[in-house]
Amino acid sequence: MEPNPLKGQPALVTGANSGIGCAVAKALAAAGAPVVVNYVVDPAAADRVVDEIRSSGGQAMAIQADVGREDQVQSMYRKMFEAYGTIHILVNNAGLQRDAAFVEMTLHDWEFVLSVNLTGQFLCAREAAREFLRRGVAPEVSCAAGKILCMSSVHEVIPWAGHVNYAASKGGVMLLMKSLAQELAPHRIRVNSLCPGAIRTPINVSAWSTPEALANLLTLIPYGRVGDPEDIGRAAVWLASDASDYVNGTSLFIDGGMTLFPGFSTNG
Ligand code: BGC
Repeated sequence: MEPNPLKGQPALVTGANSGIGCAVAKALAAAGAPVVVNYVVDPAAADRVVDEIRSSGGQAMAIQADVGREDQVQSMYRKMFEAYGTIHILVNNAGLQRDAAFVEMTLHDWEFVLSVNLTGQFLCAREAAREFLRRGVAPEVSCAAGKILCMSSVHEVIPWAGHVNYAASKGGVMLLMKSLAQELAPHRIRVNSLCPGAIRTPINVSAWSTPEALANLLTLIPYGRVGDPEDIGRAAVWLASDASDYVNGTSLFIDGGMTLFPGFSTNG
């Protein structure tokens, strides 16, 4: 790939003040994109991401918005357009877990996860698509009119007991992404998903922070290591760049083989 494949392409990364979103924001900025670091709580963490990007010579600004709220999403886009003029890349990253045994799961836990993980992706993608359609292709920066990257999960295909709200949201993201890709492709808008497996971030600390938990987790990962947020950042740069121009409607699993049914490697 050329040195600054995303130069001149403003990007919005939701939930970019921690974990995977933070690594993706930094990777896109390092590839030349001016980046909006969206957050909903912990403004200090968002400011740290912005400062880090700026001190490495990149362009970034933080904007607060709850992605599940239409008014807040629309006002975030207005602020982004005032500062950067337009959007070329949306990374629909904001997501969370509220785990519970199915019979204990409250309606609030169900609705909260669906609101952030699925409705949030709908609202942010709709505003981005409206702007892509209005502007069309800007051939000096990209051969596509816009790129949407949905942060999904291995749990768009792996059922997950104790996490039915989360798994349902990611299954929903899969068909949201594919249906959008089908609808928007004639307008030269690409829509794809990144599907991380176990990545070392705050969302799954309990799965890797003790030796016992880590050993257990590694039995699910044929490649023998937990992923780093930068593994996702690098893939995001490629999927947002013209290097992947013919890739549309695809789920890219970045999981060290977690989706390869490792339980079947010795029997079955
Ligand atoms: C979840 C993590 C989990 C990973 C693999 C992710 O989508 O957010 O908590 O470790 O999937 O199961």
